[in-house]
Amino acid sequence: MSPPPLPFAHLELTGNELRDLMDAILTRVARHVDSLPDQPAHHLEGADDLARALAEPLGDHPTALPAVLDQFFERAVPTSFNTAGPGYLAYIPGGGLLHSAAADFLADAVNRYTGVWLAAPGLVQLETNVLRWLTGIVGYPNTALGILTSGGSLANFSAVVTARAARLGSDFMDGTLYVSDQVHHSVAKAATLAGFADRHIRTIPSDGSFRLRRDALEEAIADDRRAGRRPFLLVGSGGTVNTGAVDDLDALAEVARREGLWFHVDAAYGGFFVLTDRGRAALRGIARADSITLDPHKGLFLPYGTGSLLVRDPEALRAAHATEGAYLPTMQDRLDFVDFCQFSPELSRPFRGLRLWLPLKLVGAAAFRAALDEKLDLARMAADALRTMPGIEVVAEPALSIVAFRVTRPGLDEERANALSRSLLDAVNRRRRVYLTGTTVAGRYLLRICVLSFRTHRDRMIQALDDIRAGLEEVGA
Ligand SMILES: Cc1ncc(COP(=O)(O)O)c(C=O)c1O
Repeated sequence: MSPPPLPFAHLELTGNELRDLMDAILTRVARHVDSLPDQPAHHLEGADDLARALAEPLGDHPTALPAVLDQFFERAVPTSFNTAGPGYLAYIPGGGLLHSAAADFLADAVNRYTGVWLAAPGLVQLETNVLRWLTGIVGYPNTALGILTSGGSLANFSAVVTARAARLGSDFMDGTLYVSDQVHHSVAKAATLAGFADRHIRTIPSDGSFRLRRDALEEAIADDRRAGRRPFLLVGSGGTVNTGAVDDLDALAEVARREGLWFHVDAAYGGFFVLTDRGRAALRGIARADSITLDPHKGLFLPYGTGSLLVRDPEALRAAHATEGAYLPTMQDRLDFVDFCQFSPELSRPFRGLRLWLPLKLVGAAAFRAALDEKLDLARMAADALRTMPGIEVVAEPALSIVAFRVTRPGLDEERANALSRSLLDAVNRRRRVYLTGTTVAGRYLLRICVLSFRTHRDRMIQALDDIRAGLEEVGA
């Protein structure tokens, strides 16, 4: 007698089978989520062996669900940075709202098509609402619009392409753009992908607070005009990844206006702090930008995979991305009815809007504002404590929720200071209660604390500071 078929081993699941499948998955997910604070902040021992052991050919026959879930939860997941946990203070955290995981399930289970308006006008409207909420948050007029992207890199790419089309047209080889030496590398990558040679990407030095120097910018623009190049785009930072610095956006907007440049602000990390009073003050001038990158998978705590590009003049976004296909339905010409494929590089796309719509509807904006305010407080608390630690220099005070620091003392040369700072980072991370990362700015190795997860609270920051004190003793700084 042959064994009974495995559950779920066929393509068409009934409603009851789906419920059983989700019950089994949810039991494991719930256990995982509840254990997040107790999981190590990172674990990468045996990574090579694990990765090789998990490589396998595609099988023709079904595998039982418990074995598949074991492979996922027991073997694949634990060897990783615990990016969803409260101790993740590295790179740029976010946490990953479970409401958005539920929204992804909803969107995928319904599987409607949101690339063109006609295929799902109601669902496209929900995403349009989300975009209008985002444009409202940054202070844009209600005629502004934008797109949801997979992340900040793709938002920056569409921003460069839009600026190129708006300011240079199709003959753009002599176009020149301006970024600071602190800008995220995705902007230069975007410019390269958009067809600009390295020599047309001008890197402007930053000042002692890591903000783009206006005087150097004006000089570079004048030099380029004299050399026959066409300046067309200025990119400001609304929170740099290195130190969290926010450029003087008002001043940059003024230069851009006077010089006729498209002004883009990369606020992928810091933009959502405009929801708070202190963030709004730090980001003053952001609404004068022609376009803004804002990453919900950072400042709105969404799971990875959602960025956004907001554009003051949606016609410019459409002009840069719209194309025709004889097989496509008729596109909308009214801006309140949006065909997202006309505004972005994508045609088919996930229904990203629901990942924002569901948490914002279920939770409301006030809880996000309060959580972001808490992150500003925690970064300030970290900076205040670090300043009292002998052997520590706070190199960048938090403009938002990043503080950058290093080990140094009088008479210590840069090489030794860098080596000690790296040793301190290792000593802190070895304790595994928090995970920090470093960066190099102007030859100096810096440690960073970046607080942005909704799961990080005061108790974890106290642990981080205790581990830094213990690490300092260990490295003999
Ligand atoms: C300021 C800034 N811009 C752009 C990006 C790129 O975003 P993503 O990783 O979502 O592509 C990042 C990522 O950390 C960032 O901090």
